[in-house]
Amino acid sequence: MAPRRFAVCLVALCLSVLPLRSQARPIGKLTLSPTRHAADDLEVTGMIAGLQPGAVGYVSYAELAKLPLITTTIQNDANFADTKSRGVKITGIPLDELARALGALPAADLIDALCTDHYRSHYPADYIAAHYPIFAMQINGVRPAAWAKQTHEYDPGPYFITHANYVPRYKVLSHEEEPQLPANIERINLNTVAATYGPLAPHGSYAPESPVMQGFTIARQNCLRCHFANDIGGYKSGRDWRILALLSREQPKYFERYTVNPKSVDPHAHMEGNPSYDAATLAALTAYFQTFTEGTRKK
Ligand code: HEC
Repeated sequence: MAPRRFAVCLVALCLSVLPLRSQARPIGKLTLSPTRHAADDLEVTGMIAGLQPGAVGYVSYAELAKLPLITTTIQNDANFADTKSRGVKITGIPLDELARALGALPAADLIDALCTDHYRSHYPADYIAAHYPIFAMQINGVRPAAWAKQTHEYDPGPYFITHANYVPRYKVLSHEEEPQLPANIERINLNTVAATYGPLAPHGSYAPESPVMQGFTIARQNCLRCHFANDIGGYKSGRDWRILALLSREQPKYFERYTVNPKSVDPHAHMEGNPSYDAATLAALTAYFQTFTEGTRKK
């Protein structure tokens, strides 16, 4: 059954500073409404022409459906891996094109997608250029809710993000570049890489290949989907960076065991484990989070 996998929702962002593959297609400009009219209106925030900082704009499904949508078969999305859903055709708009249609400011180089369960996916420009994420609106020609009813699969709608064929670019220790696959997307936010990842940089200076910096890369792609620092990241877990930092410092064995297999520590845990993480990967994550407690102590 797909539902459990979808419970973890990922979202994306769009960028306009990198040369984007789809730049050639003409895209109309969407008009944002200051109020919500329907439950499936998409919320839009951040670096968007005409939108005040902190303001929320709304765009309807009908308006989104007028964009030049593309249809493609999904090859290897873990959310569509079982026999009934394998090889589905999805219809949607490339994420970078959605950002352009929303009026993304030229400096915006990261898009994030927030899900109804507060899971959040982040799409820096390099990810978008490499993986070509698609903001999906239909499955096999119908809206996700109708498809879910027909197939008795989980309903990832009204919006989700997927890829025609995701191929990881690299591995950091035993962590493979993580596909960002949010479902039940509620909000798209336009931001910058600097504003998003800057506050998460480890306290202190470290060589690029050091365990701390490797831990930073892993935390950004993985933990940040459900853990947060102020208004950066997902808050599905209810635990912020400070709590993870304290645990990594005060109870490193607990921190590592929880990261690998939460249910081995707490049978009621909801977090999914990371059984593929080896000792070096866990040590890198621990070293990264510990830098935040050092920073606190110096003050
Ligand atoms: C898909 C969502 C999700 C992701 C991704 C995620 N977590 Fe969690 N995490 C949770 C939730 C939810 C909890 C709250 C307890 C529970 O239900 O498991 C939690 C709790 C924890 C705790 C226990 C905190 C406590 O209060 O005892 C630790 C430690 C932790 N996470 C570490 C990590 C690390 C490290 C990463 C990245 C490698 C990570 N998590 C990625 C969802 C997530």
